[in-house]
Amino acid sequence: TELTLIGAPTDVGASVLGASMGPDALRIAGIARALQGLGLAVQDLGNLSGPGNPQAAPQGGFRHLVEVTRWNEAVFAATLSALQAGRLPLLMGGDHCLAIGSISAVARHCSARGRRLKVLWFDAHADANTPASSPSGNLHGMPVACLLGHGPAQLTQLAGAAAALQAQQITLVGVRSVDATEKSFVNTLGIEVYDMRSIDELGMRAVMQAALADVDENTHLHLSFDMDGLDPTIAPGVGTPVRGGPTYRETQLFMEMLADSGALGSVDIMELNPALDLRNQTAELAVDLLESLFGKSTLMRA
Ligand code: ARG
Ligand code: MN
Ligand code: MN
Ligand code: MN
Repeated sequence: TELTLIGAPTDVGASVLGASMGPDALRIAGIARALQGLGLAVQDLGNLSGPGNPQAAPQGGFRHLVEVTRWNEAVFAATLSALQAGRLPLLMGGDHCLAIGSISAVARHCSARGRRLKVLWFDAHADANTPASSPSGNLHGMPVACLLGHGPAQLTQLAGAAAALQAQQITLVGVRSVDATEKSFVNTLGIEVYDMRSIDELGMRAVMQAALADVDENTHLHLSFDMDGLDPTIAPGVGTPVRGGPTYRETQLFMEMLADSGALGSVDIMELNPALDLRNQTAELAVDLLESLFGKSTLMRA
């Protein structure tokens, strides 16, 4: 596999500042070296550029819609060209609004090639707010809704008129904070959600077997990994922590089972906030987990 690292240093979709430093923290933690160590060819495109964070109040239900759109257009273009070159894009965020751009590009690529797209969304949050339901106006709380076609046209139509995803193409894992008004959207659309209670009751192994049950040889699997999905005791470097997330071991198994599926085609690592981290430990954890995602195992050689 040939990997393309794409840095998207912005926090325009969040209200807590600092996710803009995520890409460099991942580089300092040795992301390229670690993946090369597994025998992968790694190319780092450097950082995309885009508008600064105006730190403005929400307007018409959104904060920074213009800036969020610009950044997503840049992410969309970079992701699509990596895919078209036959490479596996790894987006280094940046806040989670940028997954609108990356996943819209993956959806376009898959439909052009007749491949089935399946998205795994690892997160403490459902990120399924619409402007009507959002308590904050922050666009990092809305990417799932936008990808399903619910949101401003600038963001729902990055790849054309049709929604990037249908509800049955996305599975949420690790969820434990859903806004009261957001719940009805998740339930009405029938999105598959493995929340913390289901991980507690079933265990991560059974959850992942169920989540991956419909993956076949024609499936392109996209992982959108929000660092706040992890338990904040091991991943303090995030802007919107929620206690009670998956442990280190549970998340390693999550990654290993994704690797074993053999279907991984693209990845987002999002919401890493070095300004809130302790000695870069959350970035180092991300790199450690990525090694498992790309096939590192204790006894077998990669
Ligand atoms: N539900 C909250 C909101 O919409 C928090 C969203 C947090 N999202 C994230 N990608 N960290 O404002
Ligand atoms: Mn989150
Ligand atoms: Mn998120
Ligand atoms: Mn592909």
